Amino acid sequence: MSIQTIHVRTNPEYDVTIGPGLLGECGPRLKETVGLCHMAVVTDSNVAPLYLETVKSSLLEAGFKVSTYVFPAGESNKNFNTLSDILEFLAGEQLTRTDCVAALGGGVTGDMAGLAAALYLRGVKYVQLPTTLLAAVDSSVGGKTAIDLSAGKNLAGAFMQPSAVICDTSCLKTLPPHVFAGGAAEAIKTGILCGEKLFALFEADVLSTAPEVIISQCVTYKAGVVERDEKEQGERKLLNLGHTIGHAIEKCSNYQISHGRAVSVGTYIMTCAAENLGWTDGPISSRVCDCLRRNWLPTGLSYPPEKLAQAALSDKKRAGDSITIVVPRAIGHCELEKIHVSELEGIIRAGVE
Ligand code: GLY
Repeated sequence: MSIQTIHVRTNPEYDVTIGPGLLGECGPRLKETVGLCHMAVVTDSNVAPLYLETVKSSLLEAGFKVSTYVFPAGESNKNFNTLSDILEFLAGEQLTRTDCVAALGGGVTGDMAGLAAALYLRGVKYVQLPTTLLAAVDSSVGGKTAIDLSAGKNLAGAFMQPSAVICDTSCLKTLPPHVFAGGAAEAIKTGILCGEKLFALFEADVLSTAPEVIISQCVTYKAGVVERDEKEQGERKLLNLGHTIGHAIEKCSNYQISHGRAVSVGTYIMTCAAENLGWTDGPISSRVCDCLRRNWLPTGLSYPPEKLAQAALSDKKRAGDSITIVVPRAIGHCELEKIHVSELEGIIRAGVE
C-alpha cells in the first residue's frame, strides 16, 4: 500500500501521513516537520512493549534527544493525577519551549499527552502517533485534548492542533478485536455523516479487508469539518453523533464500557429515535445496525433512559438548559437540534422502544 498524506489547514497546518511501517521511520519524518529537538514520548503500558523501542530508536537515529513516559493504560487513568505526573515528567526532563511531546497510542494517550503539551510552559508542540483504529480515524486529528472529571467525560481540555500525525497502519494488526471494534464505531459514525460513498464501504466490509482506505476517507472528511470549524462553534458538533448518549453510557459504567462500544450504542439509539419520531427521510436504522453488528459492536445496553438522561446532564455539549443533539435524517444528512434538557429522556426512550 502506498503512503497517503492528507493536509489539514488549521492553525497550525499539518499533515496526516497514513501507511504501513511508518513508526519505524518517524524520526526522519518528524525531523522534517518539527525539526530536531528534545522529544518526550508519552505512551501507555499496553503500547510501550509493542512500539516504544521502534519509535525511540528511529528518533535517536535521526538525532533527537528522547525521553519516555509510560502511564498505566485505561480510560480510568485519563485524569488529573496522570496529567499532573506527565507535566512533572516534562518539567523533570527540562523540556523547553522549542521541544515537543509525542503521543504514542490510542485516544486516551493522545487526549492526555496533547493536553499536557497545551499546558506545559503554556504550550509546546506535540505530534500524534496513533496506534488504534479509533485514534487513526478520529481522535488524533482535529486537536481536541482532554481529561475526564468525576462529573463526566472530557470535561477539562483544550483545542490544540498537533504539528503532525503519523499513522502506521501496521499497528492495526496487533489490536485486540474489541479495541479494533471500538474504532469501527467512530468510523461508522463518520460514514453516516459523510454519505453513501463512505457508508457503502462499511456495508461491503472494507474495514476488515482494507482499513487504510477507511482511515484515509474518514480523515479526509474530518479534516474538512475541522478546517471549517476548528473550535466547534457549529458544523464540528456533527462529529458528536451518538456521543451525548455514548458519554452517558461510559459514565454510568464507571468507564468500564469503552468509548467505542458506548458510541456504537449511542449512535444506534439516536438513529432509532430519529426514525421512530419521524425525523428521518426513510428507514436507515437497519443499515446502521447491520454495519455495527458486522463489526462486533453492541446496539443495546441495559441502562434505563432516565439514568442515561441524568448522566448526560453534565455533558459538555450542554449550554444552560439546552443541549444540542445530532439527528441523523439520512445517510449523509445529519442535523444539529437544540433541545431542552428535559426532552432528552423522551428521545432516548423513543430510541430504545
Ligand atoms: N471527536 C470529535 C471531534 O474531534 O470533534
